[in-house]
Amino acid sequence: MKKNRIGILTGGGDVAPLNAVIHYARNEALKNNYELIGFKNGWQGILEENLVSLTTAKINPEIGGTILKSSRVNIGKIEAAAETIKKEFEKLKLRGLIVIGGEDTLSNAFYLKELPIILISKTIDNDVGMNSKKGVINYFTLGYPTAASKISSFVSLAEGLRTTAYSHERIIVVESMGMHAGWLAISSAMGNPDFIIVPEFPLDYDEFKEKVKERYSKNKNVIIVTAEGSKWKSGEHMSADLNDRDNFGHPKFKGAAQVLAKRLKEDLKQFFDTRNVNSVNPSYLYRSGRPNTLDMKAGEMLGRKAVKLFLKGKFTSPRFLTTEFNNGKLNTGQYSIDDLENIEDFHRFIDDRYYNVNEFFITKEAKKYLSSIVPEIPLTKYGI
Ligand code: F6P
Repeated sequence: MKKNRIGILTGGGDVAPLNAVIHYARNEALKNNYELIGFKNGWQGILEENLVSLTTAKINPEIGGTILKSSRVNIGKIEAAAETIKKEFEKLKLRGLIVIGGEDTLSNAFYLKELPIILISKTIDNDVGMNSKKGVINYFTLGYPTAASKISSFVSLAEGLRTTAYSHERIIVVESMGMHAGWLAISSAMGNPDFIIVPEFPLDYDEFKEKVKERYSKNKNVIIVTAEGSKWKSGEHMSADLNDRDNFGHPKFKGAAQVLAKRLKEDLKQFFDTRNVNSVNPSYLYRSGRPNTLDMKAGEMLGRKAVKLFLKGKFTSPRFLTTEFNNGKLNTGQYSIDDLENIEDFHRFIDDRYYNVNEFFITKEAKKYLSSIVPEIPLTKYGI
């Protein structure tokens, strides 16, 4: 093993450009006479010293998923976990650690505030960020561009469900991932569905049902996208199983689209034949497959930049590394974890700048944000 050593791990749900980050970080490390070592299964790998040198590892940046595997470890719930990690840092003489994860994986850094860690936010949910304080949203999380392209393609006329919807005069409710935030759901707007429902804006079902009825009477087909974590106006989730929770206490979601479709089927049957009200849940397909061009570019930038930061100089507390658009150009951005008061500050939600609750659809501002991330697939009028 070389003396100069940097570690890397991936945690939480997989996204398409993870191997791209690992690949380019490894190449950048080698170029500078450093060794990149990969911890297996996220934070679990550092706790168990399950590691592999990536110097000669075969890494294909175009293959989705992560060669390092993943886990959802909550350091706060494991006795002496933070101490073990600090000891491993010393034992392995790590110059630093690159952690690629979503809200749960990255929030573990709050227990490790004195360590040199680079946090790269990846999640198709696009809900982890520093922008809440700055009031501007100009970045995306790694993996979001690929998933956003997929959902907009899945609902579109040119590539997706709109064709079967108009042919069979269907109402189709499509489920998007997103337990707390509707970023993935709103990105479907680029494929032109009729309505979008997000967790941040609990659904006024009676009003919504009227809108669906009107739209169906006019067009004879409707596509609705709902996030898995969507709620009724009462605040109750459409589909959360509160008895089945993960390591971080999040309930498992058991099909919001199905629940909503069932309710519409029943309540609209006095107005038209609702046997064709269906639901579709692409589920892990959103996370699957190769990274698209933007994600690949972001993966390469983040992988290289993370290593360069460790080479540049010592820093003594975790830092976020992001990709951001500045005047239309993709750059990296950095924030210290000290800029956050608590873990809650670290979440990013849809607000009324991005969602119009009366239309059950996105705003112009949201479209502006999305247009730099995912190309629109227009709903060309074929007389449908
Ligand atoms: O965190 C990303 C995410 O894709 C969520 O939207 C989703 O609920 C969750 O992961 C499900 O992942 P898994 O089934 O792998 O735990």
